[in-house]
Amino acid sequence: MRNILHSEREVVKVSVICPAKINLFLKVYGKRPDGFHDLISVMQSIDLSDRLSIEETERGKIEVSCSNPDVPCDESNLAYKAADYFLNKAALKVDGLRINIEKNIPMMGGLAGGSTDAAGVLVGLRRMMDVKLEDADLVKFASDIGSDVPFCLIGGTALVQGRGEKLEPLPAGLDRNSGAFLVVLPPMSVDTPWAYNMLDENRATEARKWGDLCEEVKSVREIWMGAIMDGSFPLLFHNDFADPLYKAKPELGAVHENMRNLAGHAILSGSGSAMFAWFSDVSEAIRTRDEYTPIAGEIPLIAYPVSGGAELQE
Ligand code: C5P
Repeated sequence: MRNILHSEREVVKVSVICPAKINLFLKVYGKRPDGFHDLISVMQSIDLSDRLSIEETERGKIEVSCSNPDVPCDESNLAYKAADYFLNKAALKVDGLRINIEKNIPMMGGLAGGSTDAAGVLVGLRRMMDVKLEDADLVKFASDIGSDVPFCLIGGTALVQGRGEKLEPLPAGLDRNSGAFLVVLPPMSVDTPWAYNMLDENRATEARKWGDLCEEVKSVREIWMGAIMDGSFPLLFHNDFADPLYKAKPELGAVHENMRNLAGHAILSGSGSAMFAWFSDVSEAIRTRDEYTPIAGEIPLIAYPVSGGAELQE
């Protein structure tokens, strides 16, 4: 084990911006022997972000604090898991770490709020500890921590498959100047394992053969690449969780209906509860947000697409 002394390193504190993600497209297939589900998704980073600060301490432990008192700061926090994992994997011995999370992304909202903090910890510690690790090594670490963590590391617009860990950036993806999302955050959270169970119970999930899935991935890739290029991608928005979730939780179905009536469309992100609509015209997005009347305490906000994942703030 490498025992690193403070004096050997220049960087003892880093800040990282950690963007949320939304699923522009999400299809969920059958449950695999490892308990996860195969999926095909197109994910997009947005500028709704958490901010992390990470610094070394002499307190002999990893300590996590968060601006949102509802977020558990114990070993179950993905930022804690990522730090512990990184130090073990990179065989580094540091006395202690303090991780502070400025939380702007709601918990259990289908926006990868915990996963992006974990990705931020990996990016931050690589810089702080000055370890020679390629991006591919970090992606491997990320996939051991959680299904959405690899995407949160790379970010942008990407086709995602497997249980979430296999990703390929899509060419000419959306960026800060493409348009804007209206994101609506209902005050209710959705537990992800519960949502996958609900899908399994609600339908005969297809245990797809590997060859069939490969064909499906190929066609999703081709169709999405063309639709991003010509701007027709909103026609492809889809989420397998949406209809069963609105049936199981009618209060979310009502928020969806409310948003759809105003914006013309509304798509669930991940397993919920956040929903979004897309506007190529930013002023129309802002106008729609201003006109949005909540029915259950939901919060409407504007989010811009961004072309990367967790990023150091120099
Ligand atoms: O990987 P992560 O910890 O984010 O997954 C949380 C839970 O979501 C898993 O324990 C599993 O129940 C479910 N899940 C799944 N299939 C996926 C991703 C997540 O069943 N592809």
